[in-house]
Amino acid sequence: MANDKVSIHGAWASRWVFILAATGSAVGLGNIWKFPYMTGMYGGGAFVMMYLVCIFMVGLPIMLAETLIGRRGRQSPVNALRTLAIDSGASPKWSWAALMGMIAALLILSFYSVVAGWSFDYILSMGSGEFTGVSGGAAGAAFGALTADPVRLTLWHTLFMVITAFVIARGVVAGLERCLRVMMPLLFVLLLVLLAYSMTTGHFMQGFHFLFDFQPERLLDGVLAAMGHAFFTLSVGVGAIMVYGAYMPKNASIGGTILTVGILDTLVALTAGLALFPIVFAAGLEPGAGPGLMFVTLPVAFGNIAFGQLMGTVFFVLVLIAAWTSSISMLEPAVAYLVERTQRSRVLVTSVLALLCWVVGMGTVLSFNLGAEAKFFVFADDGFHLFQWGAEGGRNFFDTIDYLTSRILLPLGGLAFAIFAGWVLKREVVRDELAMKSPLLFSVVYWLIRVVAPIGVLIVFIAELSK
Ligand code: PHE
Repeated sequence: MANDKVSIHGAWASRWVFILAATGSAVGLGNIWKFPYMTGMYGGGAFVMMYLVCIFMVGLPIMLAETLIGRRGRQSPVNALRTLAIDSGASPKWSWAALMGMIAALLILSFYSVVAGWSFDYILSMGSGEFTGVSGGAAGAAFGALTADPVRLTLWHTLFMVITAFVIARGVVAGLERCLRVMMPLLFVLLLVLLAYSMTTGHFMQGFHFLFDFQPERLLDGVLAAMGHAFFTLSVGVGAIMVYGAYMPKNASIGGTILTVGILDTLVALTAGLALFPIVFAAGLEPGAGPGLMFVTLPVAFGNIAFGQLMGTVFFVLVLIAAWTSSISMLEPAVAYLVERTQRSRVLVTSVLALLCWVVGMGTVLSFNLGAEAKFFVFADDGFHLFQWGAEGGRNFFDTIDYLTSRILLPLGGLAFAIFAGWVLKREVVRDELAMKSPLLFSVVYWLIRVVAPIGVLIVFIAELSK
């Protein structure tokens, strides 16, 4: 049975716009900020290897599942799951998985906006030459001064939330599609400029070996992190890709499209690594610096090489654009849902939700300064504390939300979506949506969605909880 429904929120002009949108969602701070620093922390090539396995065996099948659920349902993720579950004779409570994902996406947005906001600060300081000739100590101090200043952090966090809400409030076609058509090509051009530049630093091969030579003994170090990151970087498990799927034209092939998105996302992460590590090595810095890698070592690197001022500014513009096209996809599932449910205007719903995320984001702002001692999830000797001021070894607010989303909510959401597409939806529905020419290919893909992806998530999930 063909499904000719369209979403009340609008539709992308073509399959290409879906690719732009899904790639825009996928490519973000995860690729440019998290991926390089995690690779540095978990031993280079070994982490890259596990990450690639997780992307192709688990991440992409789940992305496929989300897209087909969204396009079949033609509604916000919550209502898509509810309607499709009822149509398939299953419990409407399946929609809770999407509800959880929607909340996870808002939680991610709350801290994402804070970190993305830093790039505003860095565009200004890079562009004005503040980092020219800077030493490692001075760059560290500059980063420390930024994160220690709640007012400055709040300002950039607010600005970023406003530009995110602005695009969403204008709607799917006038807001999202228009923004993406300009930003995504620009992002690719900027990235290629940076890559070309890093090839001239004379340390390109050193960066290359760091990313691709792997020490087998480190393979298992980063597997849990790699799985969580695979979800994060592909934007799966929260309904972001699902809601974009709801705006996808019926005649577009889902399989080829998702593969394109997955490959583009991976290429951007690897290119970001290839562009950044040579610069880090050229400046004689350490790759394992952790989350500060981008904001501390890179200004030093850019500040001490030819054309660094220009290239550094270009880099932080790139970060901002990438983060922007991702953050809109975190807000859209909830906005679509509340517009459907309350029949209120998109502008009103967007404003309320953005304000809510902004407030939660203030917790992240404060976790870098005044509230740094507020620790959550502390497993202390005398038992489990949910919250303790100044405790050793606990996670602060930002770390808690990051952990809760990447390591728990995203994998759980992804698991639920894969099981829903694989076991609740009828095989004919999946076959009709995927519309693959080769029956063999369909069987393989269907098996990845039904069996491989859920088992992969479960293994990693259980390993994580029993750590
Ligand atoms: N994929 C985005 C990134 O890599 C983050 C994201 C997660 C976006 C979840 C939407 C939903 O930065």
